[in-house]
Amino acid sequence: LSNPKNVAIIMDGNGRWAQLRGKPRTYGHIKGARVAKKIVTECASQKLESLILYTFSTENWLRPATEVGFLMGLLRRYLKRETQSLVRQNIKFTVIGDVDRLPKDILEAVRFAETSTASNTGLKLVFALSYGSRAEITSAIKEIANRVLQGELEVSQIDENLVQRALQTSTLPDPDLIIRTSGEVRLSNFLLWQSAYSELYFTKTLWPDFNAEQLALAFVDYSNRTRKFGGIAKYEDATH
Ligand code: IPE
Ligand code: IPE
Ligand code: MG
Repeated sequence: LSNPKNVAIIMDGNGRWAQLRGKPRTYGHIKGARVAKKIVTECASQKLESLILYTFSTENWLRPATEVGFLMGLLRRYLKRETQSLVRQNIKFTVIGDVDRLPKDILEAVRFAETSTASNTGLKLVFALSYGSRAEITSAIKEIANRVLQGELEVSQIDENLVQRALQTSTLPDPDLIIRTSGEVRLSNFLLWQSAYSELYFTKTLWPDFNAEQLALAFVDYSNRTRKFGGIAKYEDATH
């Protein structure tokens, strides 16, 4: 198997990284944002098709207001500073999630980054912002139910393809590989539908320590796997 084309990352462990150094959690988020920038550039230069970064979850709104405020500030600065660099790198930036919950100026910066990079043809970079997979699936169900009520759609026409198109990731391929840093072995409400056949990679490395070498290790691990999608492996078939 070759390198994955579509990758998603749960960037976890910023707080623990800072605490290990006797610093406030926010210090870890600053380092984490720098790592995100480097990994984006690495994925663009490796010609990946898409990269979805779990940046802020629906549940992260429950964190102390000071931490949420700090993360929003980081995001604001990242968008302001990086938009032109994304344009230059031919990266197409979009977001998934309930972005209406974001502060107004951040939502504007998000929309500006999206429109500025809309005609780019390289890496599709997606920030999952105020994102939760259950909320995403729930709104897809509502949308489909409404279409049935309006008489646009028959219940018998509801199939997996139609559900997929009602999700916020409708224009994106499912991830080949999902990476989670920090040693937690769970998805935390990330891409539950889309991950049905993704390969999962968990590393104990905390996100602020993640780098291009660590990414390469994840890709090697992926390339040694056999994806079967419920069938049998190609080499097994050849023995008959
Ligand atoms: C990931 O790091 C960043 C966000 C969730 C925004 P955490 O802040 O979750 O760091 P830990 O898991 O507490 O170490
Ligand atoms: C998942 O990490 C969300 C992001 C990385 C943005 P969390 O740190 O919020 O997840 P839990 O709470 O450990 O499951
Ligand atoms: Mg965490």
